[in-house]
Amino acid sequence: MRVNVTVNGSAETVDDVWEGESLLYLLRERMGLPGSKNACEQGECGSCTVYLDDVPVCACLVAAGQAEGRRVRTVEGLAEGGRLDPVQEAFVEAGAVQCGFCTPGLVVQTHALIARDPDPSDADIREALAGNLCRCTGYEKILDAVRLAARRKATA
Ligand code: FES
Ligand code: FES
Repeated sequence: MRVNVTVNGSAETVDDVWEGESLLYLLRERMGLPGSKNACEQGECGSCTVYLDDVPVCACLVAAGQAEGRRVRTVEGLAEGGRLDPVQEAFVEAGAVQCGFCTPGLVVQTHALIARDPDPSDADIREALAGNLCRCTGYEKILDAVRLAARRKATA
């Protein structure tokens, strides 16, 4: 089947998509956007988180066909004008990236959190990121990164 979808602001048409194909596969394997990671493919880890019409979703659980006529924004689409988004910068500066497998999903989820709540409490942060698993950092650096990103956004 054919899927028409706007990805990171660009209208795309993809042919020969099979019925069971996931949005994650479409993005990574057909569109050359490997930022969203495939770690569990079962909706458990959040590594594949992307925006679908402004709502963060696990791209591994969304059928590619469900994206028809909709907007997708991946971690690659957060940077603008050649500059990283403040959330991306904060993850680097806070040392919240080790193997980096969880990072794209955490960055997108944090981006969404700060957009709806510019001054989240630690409890809010933990709740927002509860579906994003990290095997490396112990989460403290991630919390630091989210706090730093919120401060940056507030003063941007
Ligand atoms: S790869 Fe989608 S939730 Fe883990
Ligand atoms: S940095 Fe390795 S899984 Fe999070």
